[in-house]
Amino acid sequence: MCSVVGYVGAQKSRVAVLEGLRRLEYRGYDSSGYACLDAHNHRLMYVKAEGALKNLVRLFDKNPIDGRVGIGHTRWSTHGAANEQNAHPHFDCHKTISIVHNGIIENYSSIKKELIAQGHVFHSETDTEVIAHLIESEFQKNKTATLPQLMTSVVAQLVGAYAFMAVMQEFPDTIIAVRKGSPLCIGVGDGEMFVASDVLAFAGKIDRVIFMPEQTFAVVTKDDMQLYNFAAERQDFVIKQLDAQWIAVEKNGHEHYMLKEIYEQKSVIERSVRFFRTLQDNFWVSIGCTKEQILSLKKVVIVACGTSWHAGRIAEFYFEEIVGIPTTAVLASEFRYRRFFPQDDVLYIAVSQSGETADTLEAIRFLKEHNQHTLALTNVASSSLVRECDGFLLTQAGPEIAVASTKAFTAQLTALYWLANRVAFERKKITETAYLLAEEDLLLAGVLLENMIEQCKHEIIDELAPYYAQFDRSIFLGRHITYPLAMEAALKLKEIAYIFSQVYPAGELKHGPLALVDDKTPVFLFSHPDPVIYQKILSSAQEVKARKGKLLAIAFEGQKELIDLADNVFIFPMVSPHLSVIATIGVIQIFVYYIALSRGCNIDKPRNLAKSVTVL
Ligand code: G6P
Repeated sequence: MCSVVGYVGAQKSRVAVLEGLRRLEYRGYDSSGYACLDAHNHRLMYVKAEGALKNLVRLFDKNPIDGRVGIGHTRWSTHGAANEQNAHPHFDCHKTISIVHNGIIENYSSIKKELIAQGHVFHSETDTEVIAHLIESEFQKNKTATLPQLMTSVVAQLVGAYAFMAVMQEFPDTIIAVRKGSPLCIGVGDGEMFVASDVLAFAGKIDRVIFMPEQTFAVVTKDDMQLYNFAAERQDFVIKQLDAQWIAVEKNGHEHYMLKEIYEQKSVIERSVRFFRTLQDNFWVSIGCTKEQILSLKKVVIVACGTSWHAGRIAEFYFEEIVGIPTTAVLASEFRYRRFFPQDDVLYIAVSQSGETADTLEAIRFLKEHNQHTLALTNVASSSLVRECDGFLLTQAGPEIAVASTKAFTAQLTALYWLANRVAFERKKITETAYLLAEEDLLLAGVLLENMIEQCKHEIIDELAPYYAQFDRSIFLGRHITYPLAMEAALKLKEIAYIFSQVYPAGELKHGPLALVDDKTPVFLFSHPDPVIYQKILSSAQEVKARKGKLLAIAFEGQKELIDLADNVFIFPMVSPHLSVIATIGVIQIFVYYIALSRGCNIDKPRNLAKSVTVL
């Protein structure tokens, strides 16, 4: 989640590094920093600042340092508070070695103790700083060591998943880039090289890229790069054409990216459907399957984190009810530590907006080791997930900037619903007409999503959001497919409005959570279009009201008892349960957005969070 960006070339590095950091700031905004080597005397210079990147940029007015080799960093804090002292770059005792780092050095504490015993003096609470002192220590032990020998002795002592860059006075005009577990790529230009956590840092500027393989380090100069494994053996590498473009995304008149992205959802669904229609028979090849594999499939397992996991939880119902195939959505961070039972004919779908989430990637690596079939469902074509899975299906959300995922979630639901129908059609579970109708239904859900926002937004802005913004805790209830929808709504309220939101399957209310219901804890109840499930939801509503709870219901036309019972209600047209989640999500997102706005929250960059979570 931190981002690292480096530049070595004929030009000075500051502009390139800051531009790269700006593009990757979604990965962390606790602090930022830049270090470079003076072009004449090769001395290390640096600037760092607490908070957003703009704070760093301001410092250059007073201290306009620049150099031909430069590295920069934006931080999402793991070890140590989010302050200037812990901001990267970090240094050795003599400030001749500077380090920027993404990931975690798990054994930093024992290394630090040893280094302190040797006389090293530390200035931060970070795990990162040990890398600089360790390089210094190894260098002192063997002054004649080559760079590869030096780095080998350093990485041999580091435990964890990390990507870091070092710039050293001793080796001017050189960036040392090290990758183990966290992504790092090298942009190859004419007389210039970039190193970054993500190709977006330099996309559009140069068109060749090397994705550093696992457990390698690179010695990068402006015209050359040498790759080594952790035993200091030279490695061949592949230079790929870089197709990714950097599209400067503006807010288009909206106050926040989140609001803009909420309003884009109808067109995201339309774009998705247009895209699906271009996928012909070779579709199975692109998702890494044969038709035979699809026919013999016995189980689907969706692996994801955060909002993407909620999309997966909803898709359980798509695959089970449309394809008739057992489906489970597992949290990548939990899955990796559970006992694994390898089975034939299972499709593992990794759902991830960024395609870089560390836990999801590790789960996929584990599955690959066990020869399991993996499919990436992601928004980023150049992501590690696309490279590492057997096949991929790209969601069509376009760049999502706000940390809280909205349109990417809807794009995931759209893709998963379509995929379930495509698989069902292939397995002759549904007719061609039904399959084609599914695409029309998606378009209709998009229209409803947008229309309902228009219909509800004035009441939300004028009354409901300011009213519900005063509560500091809430309970969310849903049932069947609306339970994971309630989970997503509760997550949004936590993320951007900092309201403690507990979510339960509605049937569990009477098994404990009912004790929490009072006039200070509103209950947000997600109804269901199915009449049988609706009756159960209605019972939960009655239980809440009997305890004088404040009830806001998400109901469907005709659900009169619930509509009458609730203190406030959003009433949606009756659609199929599968599509109801898409039709309702826009209003929920807008509602939460305006609650967060009323509470004065930093909506696009909520405290403590980052858009892409690349640490385990
Ligand atoms: C972070 C983001 C969430 C996202 C989750 C998974 O926590 O803030 O919005 O859902 O990571 O990210 P992914 O890129 O794998 O979907």
